[in-house]
Amino acid sequence: MHVVPKITDPEEAVNPPHRVQCVINGQPHDVSVIPRRTLLQLLRDDLHLTGTKEGCGIGTCGACTVLVDGRAVLSCMLLAVQADGRTVETIEGAARDLDPLLDAFLHHDGFQCGFCTPGQVMTLRALFRRDPHASAEEIQRAVEGNICRCGAYLRIRTAALAARDARAQSER
Ligand code: FES
Ligand code: FES
Repeated sequence: MHVVPKITDPEEAVNPPHRVQCVINGQPHDVSVIPRRTLLQLLRDDLHLTGTKEGCGIGTCGACTVLVDGRAVLSCMLLAVQADGRTVETIEGAARDLDPLLDAFLHHDGFQCGFCTPGQVMTLRALFRRDPHASAEEIQRAVEGNICRCGAYLRIRTAALAARDARAQSER
């Protein structure tokens, strides 16, 4: 489906939309995007993938983390046009794949309000894909850019370790 957003801003009239073709959570998308629109805005506002959260909007909290070509990125810091020709994964994709991280976060109370959870999960998803046997220190380092205002850090780390161990168990 080719989604063409409504032009409501006079600046948008002089910066016409660009076509972006990408795969999001396994589904091909073909959208027209104003050049200054972020990937986060495309995902949440245009495609209604609202699992990805906007915290700071300036690249400091990690709430908006998604995967682009398998790498964890801050979608508030990436222009939507930069997703052209790439694969994007959001928390909705992790849920579709029944990522064991989701189960582990639930079982180990890896959240309080849950606002930071999609970003935490996507950061860890990228880490475990790269290194399924990541150490506790590597896990700690991977999520250090993901701020949890509820301070659930200990339980987030416990959930991450449990997901890693469950994955290792299922490989045996
Ligand atoms: S919303 Fe993107 S880093 Fe905070
Ligand atoms: S669970 Fe509330 S911000 Fe992390």
